[in-house]
Amino acid sequence: MSNFVVNESTVILALETSCDETAASVVMGGNDVLSSIVSSQIEIHARFGGVVPEVASRAHMEALIPVMQSAITEAGILPSRIDAVAATAGPGLIGALLVGVSAAKSLALVWDKPFIGVNHLEAHLYAGLLDDPTLQFPLVVLLVSGGHTMIIEMRGHGDYTVLGRTIDDAAGEAYDKVARYLDLGYPGGPVIDRIASQGNAEAIDFPRPMEHDGLNVSFSGLKTSVINYVKKNPDVANVDVAASFQAAVVDVLCTKTIRAAQQIGAKGIVLGGGVSANSLLRAQMSERGAAAGFKVALPSRAMCTDNAAMIAAAAWHRLGADGPSSLSCGAYPNLKLDAVPR
Ligand code: KG4
Ligand code: ZN
Repeated sequence: MSNFVVNESTVILALETSCDETAASVVMGGNDVLSSIVSSQIEIHARFGGVVPEVASRAHMEALIPVMQSAITEAGILPSRIDAVAATAGPGLIGALLVGVSAAKSLALVWDKPFIGVNHLEAHLYAGLLDDPTLQFPLVVLLVSGGHTMIIEMRGHGDYTVLGRTIDDAAGEAYDKVARYLDLGYPGGPVIDRIASQGNAEAIDFPRPMEHDGLNVSFSGLKTSVINYVKKNPDVANVDVAASFQAAVVDVLCTKTIRAAQQIGAKGIVLGGGVSANSLLRAQMSERGAAAGFKVALPSRAMCTDNAAMIAAAAWHRLGADGPSSLSCGAYPNLKLDAVPR
């Protein structure tokens, strides 16, 4: 247990630079978001069709100080009011992570305040709790992003079990790959989401991989089915492919998440990660989850995608439970959900 005093007035400045968003946020007491600034690099990477790690690191270097200054100004506080400085320590791109970790450690050193290295995956779980503090444990969290797809049992703060995961592509990765094949641009999730609403979701009966099989998921075969179908039917409308592909992804994600919630007797279902901004996933999970008797929490879209408010929320809990990280804490590209960066 930590002997560091953490309470409702503890103010944390958090930085997030794990992938292609440069973000800074000031949060008081673990859930009072005083500011949350996100500067996206999407336009910089779009011309390459995906995130270019070296380009991302350089863009973080340029954006971080102004983003941080905006976060402090918008919070309406003096830097001397900040009690601790946090940064995402992993998982993510090594060069990108190092920008945020180095900046946060430098500030902590200069201000003589604690530094907290935060696990980005754990932070995504806290995004849902930030938006709805009334949620009760145990929860099932569906974490669906560009790099991860996991169904997680959250029994309490820092107490998780991964119940299911993708055995190949992440859900967001499948969206991005299908969109690239259809020439729809990057990132693919938001485009497919938008055009799917103009298509017929029953036009093509794509497979629901591993639907009846445990809690793991697989998207690689579905992506191949889409590519093969379009090769054989070159005149098919993109809107119908998008709608039918999306229906298959969402169907599998909802079925597995509700199954997990039933198995552990969850008090609620929470979505997290970039793909949880998806309109159909939000609508279907709400409807099917409620029909199965579960409270379903949908974080705002800003909380679904990468941001630093969720990093500050996770840091507040970790600081109270484990105390600060050491200033020799590094950046960990492959950090697992239950690993605490020290
Ligand atoms: O969590 P996130 O911002 O970054 C990480 O991967 O950590 O997630 C980005 C992913 C991308 O693959 C993007 O295509 C997907 O989330 N995404 C969506 C939507 N918005 C973002 N996928 C489906 N529908 C959306 N509306
Ligand atoms: Zn993320």
